[in-house]
Amino acid sequence: MAILSINVDHIATIREARGIDEPDPVLAAGIAELAGAEGIICHLREDERHIKNRDLDILRQTVKTKLNLEMSPSEDLLKIALKVKPDVATLVPERRKELTTEIGLDVANDIERYKRITSTLKDKGIVVSFFIDPDPGQIKGASAAGADIVELHTGHYSETKTDEDIVREFDRIQEAADMANTLKLKVHAGHGLNYINIKKFSSIPIIEGYSIGHSIIARAVIVGLDQAVREMVKLVAPL
Ligand code: PXP
Repeated sequence: MAILSINVDHIATIREARGIDEPDPVLAAGIAELAGAEGIICHLREDERHIKNRDLDILRQTVKTKLNLEMSPSEDLLKIALKVKPDVATLVPERRKELTTEIGLDVANDIERYKRITSTLKDKGIVVSFFIDPDPGQIKGASAAGADIVELHTGHYSETKTDEDIVREFDRIQEAADMANTLKLKVHAGHGLNYINIKKFSSIPIIEGYSIGHSIIARAVIVGLDQAVREMVKLVAPL
């Protein structure tokens, strides 16, 4: 049985579109937990463009499952992680202009640096996850650097269109999951997963956790719209 962790950045993105205080990712996290999510993910970007330090601090106090902080491996973020102490720190590369995380971390070419960061986080009791492409070199790198978890980047799989490409990308994920498992790494997966493309993953029970954001928030907006309109119609009608 795999667990679902919800990325609440997308709620913060809607809030920041207006620059006001709603919708609140903290409230969304509580609702996600009540609905059965077993983890809450937030990505504190260096420019705080969606999740803010305020969100992270309150989430640390309120999340009852596991708080997973996605972070770039920068000194500033490392300091914040060591202070806030999330349950899990997921190291991701960060490009300023990107709309979302685009590529996996390149651990293989910087193992000594990642070893240092990993042991600093682990010394504070933080579980360390690396967001990497389903690539054998990166999996070996993650293992050598001491990661507890690898989160396999499913973005390429999610974006491919033809049946042939989907099979090829899915096979890469399956092989990467097998390899990570052999190296005693826990395996998670995420990015671009939705209500359709998730179904194939029933054939990879090695994957213990899924990190999903956009498709769930997108569906929430659509399935929740009916109720939201009805409630406002009731308020407007007597005016
Ligand atoms: N995992 C990582 C490392 C991410 O950066 C993201 C994007 O927010 C996700 C999972 C979730 O991806 P999505 O929002 O496409 O479900």
